[in-house]
Amino acid sequence: MKDKVVVVGAGFVGSTSAYAIMNWGLASEIVLIDIDKDRAEGEAMDLNHGASFVKPVRIRSGDYEECKDARIVIISAGANQKPGETRLDLVKKNTEIFKEIIPRILKYTREAIILVVTNPVDVLTYVTWKISGLPRNQVLGSGTVLDTSRFRYLLSEHCRVNPKNIHAYIIGEHGDHEVAAWSLTNVAGVNFDDYCLVCGKDCCTKEFRKDIYNKVKNAAYDIIERKDATYYAVGLAVARIVESIFRDESSILTVSSVLQGEYNLDGLALSLPSIVGEKGIKKVLTLEFSAKEEEDLYESARILKDVIKDLDI
Ligand code: 2OP
Repeated sequence: MKDKVVVVGAGFVGSTSAYAIMNWGLASEIVLIDIDKDRAEGEAMDLNHGASFVKPVRIRSGDYEECKDARIVIISAGANQKPGETRLDLVKKNTEIFKEIIPRILKYTREAIILVVTNPVDVLTYVTWKISGLPRNQVLGSGTVLDTSRFRYLLSEHCRVNPKNIHAYIIGEHGDHEVAAWSLTNVAGVNFDDYCLVCGKDCCTKEFRKDIYNKVKNAAYDIIERKDATYYAVGLAVARIVESIFRDESSILTVSSVLQGEYNLDGLALSLPSIVGEKGIKKVLTLEFSAKEEEDLYESARILKDVIKDLDI
């Protein structure tokens, strides 16, 4: 199969994801689908005008039949957060949109991996899996890949270490009940608690950790308040997931996926460190978190299940 990506929803997030994928030279074909055909066409034109600066890639706008030979279909369509709105506030509207989109994709492919980016991403990942009846490895959400990156960035700024050398995960809901897995956080193989001594700064205190967590959790609100939307970092997060699938990397990413018994949870999707490769999710890792982190993960799951049970799917 070709390394073709279809993006459903050519708004800021979809177009920026396409831009990141193009820029990294990950795909030979990118097709943008949007209810606003002019918008999709305009974005494709704009991206194509950069063709001489990147690896060969054919970009165009199109319709759902383009899904038939796609390896990955990214869904970024739907309403996005307005200032003051939570991600979960979007659920009813976007579930209805997904009920229209998913059958249209399935009409042309049951092979492609579906990568959900629209919020609330965990709920919509579950909705996509449920409506599509696809194997669970084939349906994933961008989940907390972005939050994990925000977490690593903030820690890297504090420790003055490259974010790539900070191993840390945000798990659970991509939203107000996400969980920072401090117990697994390490730098150069040294647990973060002990790295404090190497770092020589104030990173062991409860206040420091609370502040970092709040900055990660509230990042989207802070940005939306200033510029109405977030899209650059999420576009890169999407490209990173696409890269791991296309190159069958088996990278560990905190994508959202449907749980079937991991941590005794099922009937929902949320983010956990997972091995991602050519078939999507290869394995959801069941790691040992601290008792408090596990308790917070269950709370995150409880909130998501509560939202799911009211949906007409
Ligand atoms: C973000 O976290 C809004 O979910 C989007 O930036």
